[in-house]
Amino acid sequence: MSSSASAVNSGTGLPPIPAAKIDFRPEDRQWIAQRIEEILASGQLTLGKYGAAFEQRFAGLIGVRHAIAVSSGTAALEIILRSLDIAGRDVLVPANTFFATAAAVVHAGGRPVLIDSDPETMGSAPEEIDKKLTAATAAVVVAHIGGLVSPRMSELVALCTAKGVPVVEDAAHAHLSGQGGIAAGGFGLAGAFSFYPTKVMTSAEGGMITTNDDRIAAEAKVYRDQGKAGFSQNFHTRLGYNWRLSEPHAVIGLRHCERLAEMVAARRHIAAIYDQGLQTIPGLLPLVSAGGCSCNYYKYIALPDRMLDRAALKATLRERFGVSLSGEVYEQPLHRQPIFADLAKEPLPIAEDLCARHLCLPIYASMTEAEAERVIAAVKFALN
Ligand SMILES: Cc1ncc(COP(=O)(O)O)c(C=O)c1O
Repeated sequence: MSSSASAVNSGTGLPPIPAAKIDFRPEDRQWIAQRIEEILASGQLTLGKYGAAFEQRFAGLIGVRHAIAVSSGTAALEIILRSLDIAGRDVLVPANTFFATAAAVVHAGGRPVLIDSDPETMGSAPEEIDKKLTAATAAVVVAHIGGLVSPRMSELVALCTAKGVPVVEDAAHAHLSGQGGIAAGGFGLAGAFSFYPTKVMTSAEGGMITTNDDRIAAEAKVYRDQGKAGFSQNFHTRLGYNWRLSEPHAVIGLRHCERLAEMVAARRHIAAIYDQGLQTIPGLLPLVSAGGCSCNYYKYIALPDRMLDRAALKATLRERFGVSLSGEVYEQPLHRQPIFADLAKEPLPIAEDLCARHLCLPIYASMTEAEAERVIAAVKFALN
């Protein structure tokens, strides 16, 4: 809110609806605090039993053989890419994704090649990937934007596998999203999750690599701990880094693992209210309308049928109705970021259009039905 950042919105007399809210109940906080106390007393502050428990629990949730906890989603991506030895080669990356997806390729020594978006899912269509695969392609990274998994994921993985190119999933948004009974992070050779505080679940900072591949799992453990061949020896066989996750972070993540299914169910309930509500707003459609994705609704993405003045709409919603839209995914495609300007080798019109046009309605696990109805009423009024 501009001048009145108060607990009660001036326009409606009701409490503001924030763009997002982190969900740690008093009993969660107590559970975490007790274990952090135990960790501090034990002296085992990193790579201990809570990290191992977090990995085991997360692997079970995703349905993969291995999960390796690391310090961030960015670290998870870079470690996977280093394990695939992409240095000096091309890696296909969506134009519509976060900076870190392409930056991890550069840090691992590869060259990002941008792929235009699939208008149905904001992800990558198999035919776009097929057009860009060459002998120089070392890997393909797909991103499940807003938690939306493309109904064509299996087809995309089959296409790349047939050409001997591994698929890496940037699943930073997609904890417990899935398609056809497969969870995000379980389609490709490996998946990279983020537990940054804005995500569907968090460990404050942190990331996780998921894979069914024993070699990638073993490499990841080496890379995350300074490239050491084993925990207790100073014998470095890879150019690793300090990408370890501390025990206090692991405890926070472990608690959110226990609550993940419940938090995603709550988000889906709100999304169902939005789906219904959007039917009453001409010219505004939910992105996840088709395809059978069981989305975690990290974001609830809505597409207006025309270009709106997004900044003006956001200001009206905030100032008159106390409703904050959540941040876009993403407001600019990668080649519009100054650091990646030279990646724009050709037009990427779909990514540009989707980035400029979409809206993200606020969504969080503790949102009430009444709040969701208020959001719909506010958007309807503001767009009329
Ligand atoms: C699509 C995507 N990839 C990667 C990352 C990087 O994750 P982290 O912030 O945990 O390093 C993010 C985080 O915001 C993301 O949204």
